[in-house]
Amino acid sequence: MFKRISALVVAGLAAMSVAACGSGGSTTAGTSGGGDSTITMGFSQVGAESGWRTANTKSVQDAAKNAGIELKFSDAQQKQENQIKAIRSYIQQKVDIIAFSPVVESGWDTVLKEAQNAKIPVILTDRAVDSKDTSLYKTFLGSDFVEEGRKAGKWLVEEYKDSTDPVNIVELQGTTGSAPANDRKAGFQEIIGAESKFKIVASQTGDFTRAKGKEVMDAFLKSNPDIDVLYAHNDDMGLGAIEAIEGAGKVPGKDIKIITVDAVKDGMQALADGKINYIVECSPLLGPQLMDLAKKVVKGEQVPARVVTEETTFDQEQAKQVLSTRQY
Ligand code: AHR
Repeated sequence: MFKRISALVVAGLAAMSVAACGSGGSTTAGTSGGGDSTITMGFSQVGAESGWRTANTKSVQDAAKNAGIELKFSDAQQKQENQIKAIRSYIQQKVDIIAFSPVVESGWDTVLKEAQNAKIPVILTDRAVDSKDTSLYKTFLGSDFVEEGRKAGKWLVEEYKDSTDPVNIVELQGTTGSAPANDRKAGFQEIIGAESKFKIVASQTGDFTRAKGKEVMDAFLKSNPDIDVLYAHNDDMGLGAIEAIEGAGKVPGKDIKIITVDAVKDGMQALADGKINYIVECSPLLGPQLMDLAKKVVKGEQVPARVVTEETTFDQEQAKQVLSTRQY
């Protein structure tokens, strides 16, 4: 299954890849390793929407280098059509394996079937697809996003256990149709739904970005005078919302309690500073496990259908303790 590709062909194929990806922002970059048995991986990344994503990209690129895997990397700028183009380009280039983090859950069957027909195995990393046919990919490596939502809900239930007053919650959702947005919403709702005092008074997407988080929180604050809690599906949207809350003359972490997901450095700093109240960790450091799985899959070894990332949670005191050693 390993390929022998001359330098000339590599250069030609790289040019084809850029052309195939058009103006969608995809590039073929970052090759490492070499020799007859080098594995070539085509990796289609979601984008660069958050601190989490930047750390994830670095983890994948560093791990490929360390594992001697030749990585063809493309950034889809949060657009499914760019990911589909990139995957088709990797199929054309006859890479040994394709890995990707699907921006949304639906609409992958056709291109995954094309990869299967070309006998190129696929690994899902970070986010899932909703395809019924699980033979279209070898394994899915990433977090349990439903459990992350549950952890956020459990903290809230505990925080308000002595109160009978209504708790007005606003929710900043991740990218519409993405696995983390769907699952973090569902897990949170499952827990808080058991008590009628918890009310989600507004819920809208902030597309996992800081700018959109601020914009949507501005609108929430204008239309909802009595917000008690913000649940943001990632740190970046929470950090944008903090700017909006401060701009409205309120104190984040006190007037409005804030729960986020990720635990990237900026989020942890805001938690340690008392502006966020609780963070559910979602680890972006998937690169080493991804490369191990890729090597096994290419060799034809069995791998588990699902590999779940180990994660924790942080309150303000815990954030102060770990901040200096945080890797991302
Ligand atoms: O899929 C993981 C999510 O995507 C992260 O929580 C978020 O920050 C990122 O954009």
